[in-house]
Order: sequence, then structure tokens, then C-alpha cells
Amino acid sequence: MKSLKIGLGTAAIGRPHYINIRDTTSEAFDLKSFKKKAFQVLNAAYKKGVRYYDTAPGYGIAEQIVSEWLKTKEDDTIEVATKWGYVYTANFELDANIHELKDHSVDQLIKQWEDSKILFPNLTTLQIHSATFESGVLEDEAVLQKMAQLKLKQNIHIGLSVSGDNQVAILKRALEIEYNNKPLFEVFQVTYNILDQSLLEIIDTIKKNQNRVIIKEALANGRLLPNANYPHYYKMYTTLEALAKKYEVGVDAIALRFCIQSVDPFIVLSGASSVQHVKDNNKANNFELSQEDLETLYTFKVKPSKYWSERKQLQWN
Ligand SMILES: NC(=O)c1ccc[n+]([C@@H]2O[C@H](COP(=O)([O-])OP(=O)(O)OC[C@H]3O[C@@H](n4cnc5c(N)ncnc54)[C@H](OP(=O)(O)O)[C@@H]3O)[C@@H](O)[C@H]2O)c1
Repeated sequence: MKSLKIGLGTAAIGRPHYINIRDTTSEAFDLKSFKKKAFQVLNAAYKKGVRYYDTAPGYGIAEQIVSEWLKTKEDDTIEVATKWGYVYTANFELDANIHELKDHSVDQLIKQWEDSKILFPNLTTLQIHSATFESGVLEDEAVLQKMAQLKLKQNIHIGLSVSGDNQVAILKRALEIEYNNKPLFEVFQVTYNILDQSLLEIIDTIKKNQNRVIIKEALANGRLLPNANYPHYYKMYTTLEALAKKYEVGVDAIALRFCIQSVDPFIVLSGASSVQHVKDNNKANNFELSQEDLETLYTFKVKPSKYWSERKQLQWN
């Protein structure tokens, strides 16, 4: 049996609004039906064999939902990875001035760890949420020491997630950091997809020492799905649609499969917000792109600066 490489990211099921390409606004928020839908997505993923769930306090009530859902499963093969460093501030309101706030201080690490460890007694991974040079988190001795201590005492994996056109430079810096004569970080959550292939520069180095590579934004927040607002991707869309037809899956599964085969990561996160998306995304586990098709997909990469300036234009929706 092929190994199942799709995990579930919970950004879209823990808060009603997140960065995407939708041009319609979400329905009025109702907590009961919101939680019910989230449980349906989690259950659908579990049924498809997903055993890796990525969450964060910055994703609204995602941690609480995943924690409640876990109690219905009692399955110790389920892995939960969380993060620290963002506070959710939108209070489920679309027109909130600020949807999330970054805080990379050691006090915030301690505070969010205290909450997460209660919600997830069997947590496997704690990551810095969106490490940047600007926040200084990779140079903060108090933070790094606390994370090293948690790694040792709690027996968890320590990681970080990165975004932006300098994500490779941040990864390089993170790989240099050592505690107790060993590299501190062993889980690297990185944006990688057909458009932003910058991870390839450093993938072999990251994969040494059995480090885990987790891919996020594999669909470029939806920009890889044919969309009239991005006419400059017309050629790529035509190719993706032809491949979808050839392999009898959706464009989403082609894009996710590209990540699986070109990087062979530990996990590619699906950002599914509905049961149908879970079913569609998980088809990426079940087929193999030919080398020729893979080569064609490599040609659609764009410069990271272009990718991330377009990404910045996306709205909370
Ligand atoms: N650490 C970080 O800084 C960070 C940042 C971003 C994401 N992440 C993690 O990575 C996960 C995935 O990232 P993501 O959700 O941003 O990006 P993504 O997977 O690149 O894109 C998700 C988008 O694709 C659309 N989509 C997915 N399957 C579809 C299908 N079958 N048909 C039509 N549309 C489909 C979704 O539509 P809808 O809009 O309709 O749902 C959504 O807009 C997150 O849940 C989170 O766990 C981490």
C-alpha cells in the first residue's frame, strides 16, 4: 500500500474567515453549525486515512475543536502538531481591523504552551508560527532555550513554519541553531507549490538527520485552481486541467501530488474547508504523475518575490 502523505491543516475550520481567493463573503457566523461542520471535515479526513493534524491558537477555535474531536477517536496513531506565536483577535468578525497578532516573546511561548499541553496531552510537535528575521525569534536565547527544554522534557518535536520570499534564508538560519550539541529544529513547515518552488534549493539539507518537511499552501491558497482573476496563469491552468482529465482527479489533487513526488515530504497539508474538498484532496494519495508530467509542472514556477507580492493581495474572506 502507498504511504498516505496528506495531513489536515485546520486554519479553515477554526475560524470563519481566512486568506483565500473566494469572491463571496461567508455566511453569518453560528458557533453550533460551525463546530458541526468542522467535526464533519475532521471525520471525513480520518475516514480517508489522515492521521496528521496541524493546528494553532492563531486559527480561532481550531485547537479546541481538534481537542474535542480527538476524545471521540481514542486513536494513538493520530498526530497533532500545534504552533505558538499568533493570537487570534478577529472574534469571528469579517470586518475586524486585525485578524491575528504576532507575539514571539518567551512569555507568549509559555502562555500558549500551557494551554496547548492541556488540550493535547499527546502532542507530538510544537512549532514557532511564522518565524521571521524581523520578530527576532531565532536570536532570542530565552525562547530557544525554552523550546530546547520542552523538546527534552516533553519528548516532542520542535519546529517552525516559514512564509515569504525569504523563507529559504530563514530556514538556513534555523538549521544552524543547536542546543545540547544537537540541531534544535527538526520539523520545517514550508510553503511549496507549483508556483513557489524555492524550497527545492534547500530540501536535501533539510532532510538530513531525519528532519520532517511539512508542506503548506500546496494550492497557493487556491490560486492554482483555474480562476478568471489570474489570466497570466492561463497556460498553467490549461495544463493542470488536461492532467486532471488524464488522471481522473481534480486540479487540486494534481497540485498536491506534484508536492508529494517532487519533494517527498513527511506530509502535505490539505487546507480543506468542506467534506468534498477532503475527498478531492485525498485523491492525491492514489496515483502517480509520470516523470514527463512532473517536468512540465516544474516549468510553471515564478520568482518568489512575484509569488509573495501576489499572495499579499489576497483578502480575508
Ligand atoms: N504556518 C503558517 O504560517 C501557515 C500559513 C498558511 C497555512 N498554513 C497551514 O497549511 C494549511 C493549508 O494551507 P491553506 O489552506 O492556506 O492553503 P492551500 O491548501 O494552498 O489552499 C486552500 C484553498 O484551496 C481551496 N480548495 C481546496 N481544495 C479544493 C477543491 N477540491 N476544490 C476547490 N477549491 C479547493 C480552498 O477553498 P475554500 O476557500 O472554499 O476553502 C482554499 O481557498 C492550513 O490549514 C494551515 O494548517 C500554515
